[in-house]
Amino acid sequence: MGQKPLIVLNFKTYAESMGEKAVLMAKYCEEVSIESGIEIIACPQTPDVFRVAGVVKIPVFAQHIDSVSAGSYTGHITADCVLSAGAKGTLINHSERRILLSEIDSAIQSAKKAGLVTIVCTNNISVTSAAAALSPDFVAVEPPELIGSGIPVSKANPEIVSGSVNAVKKINPMVKVLCGAGISTGDDVAAAIELGTGGVLLASGVIKAKDPRAALFDLVKKI
Ligand code: G3P
Repeated sequence: MGQKPLIVLNFKTYAESMGEKAVLMAKYCEEVSIESGIEIIACPQTPDVFRVAGVVKIPVFAQHIDSVSAGSYTGHITADCVLSAGAKGTLINHSERRILLSEIDSAIQSAKKAGLVTIVCTNNISVTSAAAALSPDFVAVEPPELIGSGIPVSKANPEIVSGSVNAVKKINPMVKVLCGAGISTGDDVAAAIELGTGGVLLASGVIKAKDPRAALFDLVKKI
């Protein structure tokens, strides 16, 4: 993941981005990434990682991993398994898939061992600070009340974004900061970058758009 702003598209469990539709969504991401030169990461549901990663060249991330490793565990998602399915990284602790701080730590360690890039999601500046102390590659701050709202965090709550950027600088300047919740336009992305982030994490603005491909082109237009 280079110096250019990053766009991370979480497919969540939306019907519009599942199964073969996940492949199509990832192809749109790839097309826009190639044309714009902006790195776009696709995060499909875990069972779709293998089929999506087999078709596109953009990075595919898992939405979650558990802190367990290979062994006598059932129903868990391991870092090694998503890696072998073709994932290059993973979200950890999304607001819709929260885990304990100790589990975030173990999940980051397992991901690092496997060579996966880690994006730890946080819901406020204090949690951002705690997450940064665990040295993931990225933290992504997302106020839960703005998730899926269409009201962009970069405009509705710029303080949480700049506050997270400042907190991370003090605690662990190697960690890059993303922000998310309600992001849907190129203006929202530009505002996020203005606040010092390295990019955005988003979902509904693209996945639920009438024309997701056009929504993706709009996102990168001001970068
Ligand atoms: O992971 C992205 C997310 O939680 C934000 O969702 O729909 O507000 O872009 P959305």
